[in-house]
Amino acid sequence: MTMQEQTVYLNGEFMPLGEAKVPVLDRGFIFGDGVYEVVPAYEGVPFRWEQHLARLKRSLGKIRIANPLDDAGWTGLVTALLSRHGWRDQFVYLHVTRGVARRDHVFPADAKPTVFAMSSEFKPVSRGAIEKGVSAITLPDERWLHCDIKSISLLGNVLARQAAFDAGALECLMFRGGFLTEGSASNIWVVSGGKLLAPPRDALILEGIRYGLLEELAGSQRIPFEVRKIARDEVLAAEELMVTSATKEILPITSLDGKPVAQDQGPGPLYRKLFDAYQAAKAASVARGWPPN
Ligand code: PDD
Repeated sequence: MTMQEQTVYLNGEFMPLGEAKVPVLDRGFIFGDGVYEVVPAYEGVPFRWEQHLARLKRSLGKIRIANPLDDAGWTGLVTALLSRHGWRDQFVYLHVTRGVARRDHVFPADAKPTVFAMSSEFKPVSRGAIEKGVSAITLPDERWLHCDIKSISLLGNVLARQAAFDAGALECLMFRGGFLTEGSASNIWVVSGGKLLAPPRDALILEGIRYGLLEELAGSQRIPFEVRKIARDEVLAAEELMVTSATKEILPITSLDGKPVAQDQGPGPLYRKLFDAYQAAKAASVARGWPPN
């Protein structure tokens, strides 16, 4: 099956991707006026679905788009999309814009939100990346001040990710006012003094669904965990660095700005514990099954 033949969802209907069309006056196209989610699903079971749905509703609320579907509607949509594809593991992309209207910055009075969803194959995260780690660069965070909204306006993130790619790195670590925020499409974790540190959950970062998950896993693994501002010097001197996202799961960063992290020891002990705990959490989610009761 070609990509164009894959089934996607648009405004209440399932259709081949090649036939899914949005009017050019859609505010997603004109203004980037919308929000999205990326939900991994293992063996047909969306992972941390309640949390993804809650964040989608929070993002919609923050930009004042009325939620176009109820919880059962979203769950049914994800279930239907997953069942239409044969891949063992998938990730579902959900996207809501303010809809189609004459171009005017002011919210249209009567536009109907556009709802788009697709699923892609979730290929296993590379063994090499897990075993050897990935490289990252550092950059100033030049994005807007509402990074807590999972907005489809991603130009700042796109430029940061491209800068990392151009440097031969997987991700960038961004800093605002000398403190760590996050990656271009991920959250960043720092081990310092044997503690797992995370930047505050404020409007300067998107609180990943894996943020809450890692907090839980650190608890169950008895890893000391602290949420606080993390200065650049502390990042450069970290004992371990890690990155999490729906698609990367959890990866060790072993090279930063071309220099080895922590005397080149490779993925560290806390990474290994959290990686194993992450895999166990996935297996437990699969065992609980789907759809939820
Ligand atoms: N991005 N911060 C940013 C800016 C992100 O774009 C993402 C995820 C995260 C991590 O969130 P989560 O753990 O819920 O995946 C943090 C997705 C995967 C994307 O845009 O493709």
